[in-house]
Amino acid sequence: MDNIVLKLTSFLCTLAFLLFISFKPVVSSRHRQWSGGRKLNSGDNSDLVTNLPNQPRVDFQHYAGYVMVNETNGRALFYWFYEAMTSPEEKPLVLWLNGGPGCSSVGYGATQEIGPFLVDGDGQGLKFNNFSWNKEANMLFLESPVGVGFSYSNTTSDYEQLGDDLTDSKSTVIPIYKKLISAKLRIWVYSGDTDGRVPVLSTRYSLNTLALPVTKPWSPWYHENEVSGWYEEYEGLTFATFRGAGHAVPCFKPSNSLAFFSSFLRGESPPSTK
Ligand SMILES: *[C@@H]1O[C@H](CO)[C@@H](O)[C@H](O)[C@H]1NC(C)=O
Ligand SMILES: *[C@@H]1O[C@H](CO)[C@@H](O)[C@H](O)[C@H]1NC(C)=O
Ligand SMILES: *[C@@H]1O[C@H](CO)[C@@H](O)[C@H](O)[C@H]1NC(C)=O
Repeated sequence: MDNIVLKLTSFLCTLAFLLFISFKPVVSSRHRQWSGGRKLNSGDNSDLVTNLPNQPRVDFQHYAGYVMVNETNGRALFYWFYEAMTSPEEKPLVLWLNGGPGCSSVGYGATQEIGPFLVDGDGQGLKFNNFSWNKEANMLFLESPVGVGFSYSNTTSDYEQLGDDLTDSKSTVIPIYKKLISAKLRIWVYSGDTDGRVPVLSTRYSLNTLALPVTKPWSPWYHENEVSGWYEEYEGLTFATFRGAGHAVPCFKPSNSLAFFSSFLRGESPPSTK
């Protein structure tokens, strides 16, 4: 387990770097565009996506491309970054990593679950997602590790050393939660209550092993005048269920998911009255 945590730590360092370099140019180019209507510097904006086939018209910008993470071995991670729909400089930056093993953050998270452009059922077009999480935050989708989605390495042995080792199912992620909680990061765990793959009950049993002090007992939360699910707050962690949702919760309950996400970002409990 130490091994994973160590790798996770070095992985997060890489991300911190990535956030810095991709966010800064975005904000400054926005600024330039608004203040003087000057043409964007193509050097800064080579990752700007301008001509996605059948893309619905939108007022925010989005970027996609590779970030080199190891030049010696030729390792690069693919990202897609959507500015928040409004006032991106004031909104938080959210990093989205689909779980696994081996799930693409672009193929699932961005284009089927919570991004602004969802791929149509027939795979032929894109439709605008009115419940996209970039209504509330700048959203960065990263494909990780190498071998997932468009992320790759030019050194074949990387796939054995990084790919498999990181993506093999571990029996538990509880030690990672402990580490994140002790670093004072707030955690939100959610679960569709008709999810047969990761049932609510097993998640509750697992969370119980953390033995965190309860700050708000199990109670219903509401969305659009209905009970949307149940939640419990612990020191450092919020657990919520989504009524009638399966495994990929935002696909089943897009509006409810966006509402919960929004209250979590504000540091608030979800609406607990109708
Ligand atoms: C690149 O990756 C290799 C193999 O994982 C590692 O030995 C080396 O230290 C890495 N280089 C840098 C600069 O991180
Ligand atoms: C991998 O190799 C190709 C072909 O030489 C090169 O174009 C590409 O930039 C390399 N990728 C990385 C991440 O170094
Ligand atoms: C999208 O959501 C906004 C509220 O956030 C609403 O005013 C608008 O009517 C919705 N558009 C569609 C096409 O559902």
